[in-house]
Amino acid sequence: MEQILQHKQEIENLQIADVKALEEYRIKYLGTKGIVKALMGEMKQVPVEKKKDFGQLLNEFKQFTESKYESWKETIQDRSNHLSGLDLTLPGDAVPAGSRHPISLMRNRIVSIFQRLGFAVAEGPEIDNDWNNFTALNLPENHPARDMQDTFYISTDPAWLLRTHTSNVQIHEMSKGKLPIRIITPGRVYRNETISARSHCFFHQVEGLYIAENVSFADLKQTLYFFVQEMFGKDVKVRFRPSYFPFTEPSAEMDISCLLCHGDGCSVCKKTGWLEILGCGMVHPKVLENCGIDSNKYSGFAFGMGIERPALLKYGIKDIRLFSENDVRFLKQFTGAI
Ligand code: DAH
Repeated sequence: MEQILQHKQEIENLQIADVKALEEYRIKYLGTKGIVKALMGEMKQVPVEKKKDFGQLLNEFKQFTESKYESWKETIQDRSNHLSGLDLTLPGDAVPAGSRHPISLMRNRIVSIFQRLGFAVAEGPEIDNDWNNFTALNLPENHPARDMQDTFYISTDPAWLLRTHTSNVQIHEMSKGKLPIRIITPGRVYRNETISARSHCFFHQVEGLYIAENVSFADLKQTLYFFVQEMFGKDVKVRFRPSYFPFTEPSAEMDISCLLCHGDGCSVCKKTGWLEILGCGMVHPKVLENCGIDSNKYSGFAFGMGIERPALLKYGIKDIRLFSENDVRFLKQFTGAI
């Protein structure tokens, strides 16, 4: 009977907090070879006059060990139920991936092709003055681009405006006085145009500029041939048409054979078989001089192209306004594109 009381004391001192310890307890006290069973077996050896007391004590002890077992089991289960909503072995919820804007995709492609030729990225301000956007670029006083109807002016005297092209970066870079210059300058430009499926009051351009000694038109052509092949593929044809820009002399426009009909003529190329993609030329000596560069020593070429048009062509988009509406259903389609 003393042993029983000792066991009881032992159990009172126990602290059982996990399944493993609980099972050990069950085996030790309540198992087929456990202490309770063993004590039951001792019953026959107990003298008759003590049988009643012993039996009663043993019964109480048995109930005690069992109820202890049940209560520990309950608290352990409670705790694991609490965690049962969590399966730590499951893979985590995927964080939804965003996508790059198609204009950014096209800009990055264009820029990286020129970077491979050694052009460095340069950027200029979207708000600029009349000198950098027009005058230094040799645009005559009465040029229609200077008209209020084409340009968003912020102030008139002195004239500050939203740049109408990325050519202003040419002036900023050349005025720094460091030569040679070999830059590619992507950016946003603004024109006071009616918004439609084909034109917008803001759009994007990439300007290229190379100024060094002995730069020729042949260098310009070779650079642009390389660009077209990398951008549109080896089978695409190129043609240069003479053109006019105040800041270049001679000036040209470059066309590529239509990406859709491959030159046969379709609605996109207006049945000509050609798509106009950029303006270019040799930097006008006056522009060099306006930036303090000796035009007898240095020459260079420049080119400028829109980003929207090649993006429309590449992704088969029919309306330029989609680029600025931020409709997630539209943007989501570019997930994973690089
Ligand atoms: N700035 C011209 C435009 O916005 C594009 C352009 C044409 C840029 C010829 C140039 C160039 O650098 O040489 O239409």
